[in-house]
Amino acid sequence: MADKINVMFTEEQITDRIKELGAQISKEYEGKEVTLICILKGASVFACELAKRITVPVQMEFMRVSSYGNETVSSGVVKIIQDLDEPIRGKNVIVVEDIIDTGRTMHYLLEILQHRGPETLKLCTLLDKPDRRVTEVKMDYNGFVIPDEFIVGYGLDYAERYRNLPYIGVVTPDGE
Ligand code: IMP
Ligand code: MG
Repeated sequence: MADKINVMFTEEQITDRIKELGAQISKEYEGKEVTLICILKGASVFACELAKRITVPVQMEFMRVSSYGNETVSSGVVKIIQDLDEPIRGKNVIVVEDIIDTGRTMHYLLEILQHRGPETLKLCTLLDKPDRRVTEVKMDYNGFVIPDEFIVGYGLDYAERYRNLPYIGVVTPDGE
């Protein structure tokens, strides 16, 4: 038996939306340079595809913070596992995240990054799952708003699997 996955957004739908986000960012940052901070591992696929659609100069940085481990519920514990290796002082930073769920991870991370003195700090998330929010997070760019379902694909995992799916789907674990 295998987990069941029902498609929520096709590869084409995601690509179209990323093109729109890229165009919006390119317009708003015209004449400037942007630093994308990709939050590993979940945002990896999205961040690369988004970067390709931005026409102003882009610097790509990576950061890894703890999230759920192999659970599907938030532990509420957030820690930096891999930090940036470049300062962001004076830069136009856009944090690129896969999904805002409870909001705990991003709330904490944005606060840390703000203290490092970027010129501007914005958030771009592929998905927003507002039903489970416990901490308010301001989203500047958002791909799709989704209902309270556990989804995988396009970088998002279930127990480290399915990050490579080219689409986004709802996973029903084997046996449920
Ligand atoms: P938050 O702190 O609850 O907002 O957690 C955000 C993180 O939880 C994301 O970066 C994801 O890694 C993970 N996450 C939340 N919802 C899902 C989901 O539906 N599928 C896969 N990962 C998820
Ligand atoms: Mg995850």
